[in-house]
Amino acid sequence: KPQLFIFDLDGVITDTAEFHYLAWRKIGEELGIVVDRALNERLKGVSRMESLNRVLAAASQAKEMTEHEKEQWASKKNAIYQQLIDTIKPSDVLPGISELIRELKERQFKLALGSASRNATFVLDKLGLQDAFDYVVDASKIRFGKPHPETFTNAADYFSIPYHACIGVEDSEAGIEAINSAGMFSVGVGCLDALHQANYIVSDTSQLKLDRIVEAYRLAAW
Ligand code: BG6
Ligand code: MG
Repeated sequence: KPQLFIFDLDGVITDTAEFHYLAWRKIGEELGIVVDRALNERLKGVSRMESLNRVLAAASQAKEMTEHEKEQWASKKNAIYQQLIDTIKPSDVLPGISELIRELKERQFKLALGSASRNATFVLDKLGLQDAFDYVVDASKIRFGKPHPETFTNAADYFSIPYHACIGVEDSEAGIEAINSAGMFSVGVGCLDALHQANYIVSDTSQLKLDRIVEAYRLAAW
């Protein structure tokens, strides 16, 4: 029986994945690099600096920039992003998520957040979800970002729950890979293209139904 649910934040709890995209697109415009949605799929879930590296690599500019310049572009992206997330309010929690959290608590599941973002706590506060999770893994708690499994194993280890009794919910390819390599059951939210490696996939958060997820977990004989 599953015991712990670990949720990604950006793109699962709220639509900040779109804000990350808008910010990178803006940076791309200034650098003369087209950041389209296909490239953006590969930015989801990975750290700020790794995202910048991937943007630069798309235009083979990676080697031309010094570390110092990269730091500056990364800060600039974050400044744009922070302006966007300043407007977040409790009604920006994605459809079905509040209900799912409530049901998970009623049914005594443990809840964790596993985010790569250094802005995770700020976003949770804005959403009014500061007390919703029993444990929060953010960039400061881990050494290796997604697709490395540490974000997810860190949460399971905190509760001393075996990995096979954990379910991870993600909107990114890197995140699904991280959950899978942790040996956990992966739930993907979004388009099949990027998430086909997930054990169970829904098209949007309103389709995240606890009974169906648990049923899929059982059918997979996890
Ligand atoms: C992840 C996002 O949650 O956090 C990525 O999916 C982002 O797109 C990463 O790059 C790091 O976020 P931040 O807020 O620390 O720049
Ligand atoms: Mg995400």
